[in-house]
Amino acid sequence: MTDQPALTVDGNRIPLLGFGTWMLEPDDARRMVAEALRIGYRHIDTAWIYRNEAAVGDGIRDAIEAGHVARDDLWLTTKIWVDHFHRDDLLKQGEESAASLGFTPDLLLLHWPKTSPSFAETLGALNEAQARGLTRSIGLSNFPSAEFREAQSLSKARLVTNQVEYHPYLKLTKLLQAAKELGSAITAWSPLAQGKIVADPTLNEIGRAHGKTPGQITLRWLIQQNVIAIPRTAKESRAAENFDIFDFQLSGEEMDRIHALARPDGRLGDWIDPAFQWDNEW
Ligand SMILES: NC(=O)c1ccc[n+]([C@@H]2O[C@H](COP(=O)([O-])OP(=O)(O)OC[C@H]3O[C@@H](n4cnc5c(N)ncnc54)[C@H](OP(=O)(O)O)[C@@H]3O)[C@@H](O)[C@H]2O)c1
Repeated sequence: MTDQPALTVDGNRIPLLGFGTWMLEPDDARRMVAEALRIGYRHIDTAWIYRNEAAVGDGIRDAIEAGHVARDDLWLTTKIWVDHFHRDDLLKQGEESAASLGFTPDLLLLHWPKTSPSFAETLGALNEAQARGLTRSIGLSNFPSAEFREAQSLSKARLVTNQVEYHPYLKLTKLLQAAKELGSAITAWSPLAQGKIVADPTLNEIGRAHGKTPGQITLRWLIQQNVIAIPRTAKESRAAENFDIFDFQLSGEEMDRIHALARPDGRLGDWIDPAFQWDNEW
């Protein structure tokens, strides 16, 4: 593993900066994953529902064959889609994802919470997938605090992360606190607010002081909170830009100015099962 910052969760060393692949068509996913690994990223995020697991696996193999990375130096995450939450379906998808990737993932997440089947059945199956060697570790995505705690109480293995939307326009106090109490980590999806950060006057001003772009300031703000960030881009130049965040630090005052950008309507994600509600932070 390169010496870029990583978080150790339950014995797993997870690089704080990863590369996201949502919306990347297979050709782009293969090209960009290989390029990200060449640049130095050591953490790749995909999901069964992105329909690019095979291409992500190809991109990783391209980078390994080119001598840019070794499999053991890379953290690979994929996710169980919500239609596969019954035990047998979950185990079947776990096998399918590993086969499509051509690698055992390091982390397998439940993509979104669901009321049925029960959390007990799905968490039991997720633990079974890990015990069977279909993944090295397990975790969650899009679980509000109460459900995060409930899921951990039903899981034998530590849930090493809860991957949720987080960027400067959202407050995440409650989930960050829950993760801390549970010995878990938060992973930020849409860390660049899907590109909206480029026009932000505060992020631009702080960027000018450091000779950095608003995207770099945003990613630095996340990793300085020990939050894992997984930005996505289809452009090689931006993949390099987003990786160039390890040579500067934001002051406490700058961190606070970015936290102050949070607003009640800052959420971009538009779907959660109506049985659940995001933590009320306002
Ligand atoms: N668990 C979940 O439910 C969930 C949900 C959403 C996302 N995710 C994961 O999180 C990853 C990241 O989230 P995301 O893809 O929604 O959004 P994001 O990373 O916040 O933003 C991606 C968008 O920002 C642009 N961009 C990238 N780097 C930039 C930069 N330096 N400056 C300006 N614009 C930049 C990209 O455009 P170009 O391609 O043109 O550069 C793209 O349109 C996903 O790819 C996926 O792996 C997970």
